[in-house]
Amino acid sequence: MYLSRDEEAVYRGDRGETLRRMMEILVALGDIYGAERLVQVKSVQIAGVSYKNIGDAGLEWISDLEGEVVVPSILNPAGMDLYCWRDMGISEQFASKQQEIIEAYRRLGVTVDCTCTPYQIYDDLAQRDDHLAWSESSAVSYANSVIGARSNREGGPSALAAALIGKTALYGYHLDINRQPSHIIEVKAELASSDYGALGFLVGREVGDGVPLFRLRSTPSRDELKALGAAMAASGSVALYYVDGVTPGPPVPPGSAADHDECERIGIEKEEIEAVYGESRGADVDIVALGCPHCSREELERIADLLAGQRVQKEMWVCTARKIRDSCPELVERIESSGARIFCDTCMVVSPATEGFGRMMVNSGKALVYLPGLGGVDAAFGSLEECIDVALGRRR
Ligand code: F3S
Repeated sequence: MYLSRDEEAVYRGDRGETLRRMMEILVALGDIYGAERLVQVKSVQIAGVSYKNIGDAGLEWISDLEGEVVVPSILNPAGMDLYCWRDMGISEQFASKQQEIIEAYRRLGVTVDCTCTPYQIYDDLAQRDDHLAWSESSAVSYANSVIGARSNREGGPSALAAALIGKTALYGYHLDINRQPSHIIEVKAELASSDYGALGFLVGREVGDGVPLFRLRSTPSRDELKALGAAMAASGSVALYYVDGVTPGPPVPPGSAADHDECERIGIEKEEIEAVYGESRGADVDIVALGCPHCSREELERIADLLAGQRVQKEMWVCTARKIRDSCPELVERIESSGARIFCDTCMVVSPATEGFGRMMVNSGKALVYLPGLGGVDAAFGSLEECIDVALGRRR
């Protein structure tokens, strides 16, 4: 891979050991994936924050680093709400390790907003055609697909390397050639809001790491696109998708038509989407958890409206970014007065707090995939309305 004179100096260690190690990571990845050079990134989102996931080895690795990030950098959710962790049942020992991790990132100049939806709280982290180094799969999918920016799915160390160097290796989704659709998905039904998570769950399983282009009869909102991308990134490893007439379109290679003749075609019927709900309807759940990916303000509003001042009969958690929570105290009050809890900086998958529950009801195709494996909890899928009905004890 070509390195400029400056980059070579960093690679040799002329700017210190931390930057040398970080450049080594970027060059190793670039060599593996055939990158020609590095490219400047606009922002970085760093996974590898929850003590549950990275443990002492990860904490030691981060604590060892010196210097400061050179581009805006933000964190993925941690293993607990950084303030209300006791209310989640987190132990003192876990909390102290988690705070050490957060402090290690803070020392490196990383903004300590722990969220998988950085685009909901900062407008300037990603715009169309910006190169990024983001980690969390739903955030990467949203950045590539809805914003039209360019990011590979970075691991924690490579994201941190990009944050400290300000660059990433130019390969994968940074290049037009890898942003062409591989599948056309014809959805033969009008979709309700929660159906987008179910659709993503189905399509991710079908296309794996492909690039689906959807032809829909309905026009999804930004929150619905967020849910669609998150589910596909979990049941498959989709990092980029298109929705005809809604998201930015694929780049058209010079001299070729945008007819996508070579794409595989898949039709999705309403019954297939219904079956995703059907698999888990009617089973007892001990907790309802919403906010995967983290809720937007509009989603909090919808939850507050559905709760309508009634008391929940089951544990109910809502996950969001702290900045969103802080921006709407009246919504927080309306939701929490029902007995539900809003937790920030964390989520039901990366926190050990949910491991004590047997079965969790979610309205997220992504949580449906990840909870059994990563959280050790059975998951049931329902619409937002069904989830709230279950929390209120109106249905099983
Ligand atoms: Fe975000 Fe956690 Fe879901 S990181 S996408 S809320 S699994």
